[in-house]
Amino acid sequence: MVSSLDGFIAKKDESVSWLQSTDSYEKGVTLTEEDVAEFLGTIDCYVMGSRTYEHALELGWPYGDVPVIVLTHRDLTTDRENVEFYSGDLNDLVNDRLKPNYRNIWMVGGSMLARDFIRSNLADDIIISIMPVILGDGTLFFDYIGQEQRLHLKDVTAYKDGMVELWYEIKKG
Ligand SMILES: NC(=O)c1ccc[n+]([C@@H]2O[C@H](COP(=O)([O-])OP(=O)(O)OC[C@H]3O[C@@H](n4cnc5c(N)ncnc54)[C@H](OP(=O)(O)O)[C@@H]3O)[C@@H](O)[C@H]2O)c1
Repeated sequence: MVSSLDGFIAKKDESVSWLQSTDSYEKGVTLTEEDVAEFLGTIDCYVMGSRTYEHALELGWPYGDVPVIVLTHRDLTTDRENVEFYSGDLNDLVNDRLKPNYRNIWMVGGSMLARDFIRSNLADDIIISIMPVILGDGTLFFDYIGQEQRLHLKDVTAYKDGMVELWYEIKKG
């Protein structure tokens, strides 16, 4: 997910202008539209909470025709053939439904789902992109996970717009 330096992924009013940086960092890498498209092309399936899904619908659907699983306890409906609603055990979802069918599964968020995936040891990697901003309030990236988790730093990339991407592997066992 994309986070502020103080760890928030969404503002209380859900406005998203903070996701566009006006900063500039000379030594940073330029992220082109081609880079983004290439990266997105590697994703086989998205998983997200219903609030993230509803916010994505409001902002403009960014997931194209890639399969999307939305977690909800409500009876939501959609005309999109690639969207499926799921309610229930996350272990069953990941191990019985997702892993046999998809290789690169991106858990989009939000905070509740990120916490549950990490707590249940269902995530392999965490990629956090830190924007050059302190939001001061909102929805936290790590919403009291309640357990220690050792990580391995796989990569760090600083971008021209001041965003820093940290890529961690979650150590198992
Ligand atoms: N900065 C970023 O990169 C980033 C990324 C993702 C999201 N966001 C933002 O974060 C905000 C949403 O985050 P959030 O933490 O409030 O909500 P969320 O995780 O997106 O959604 C929470 C909802 O997911 C459903 N849910 C979660 N676990 C479930 C389970 N095991 N079974 C069934 N349903 C389950 C429940 O929906 P029901 O109430 O429908 O049952 C729950 O209320 C939005 O503003 C979004 O735009 C930001």
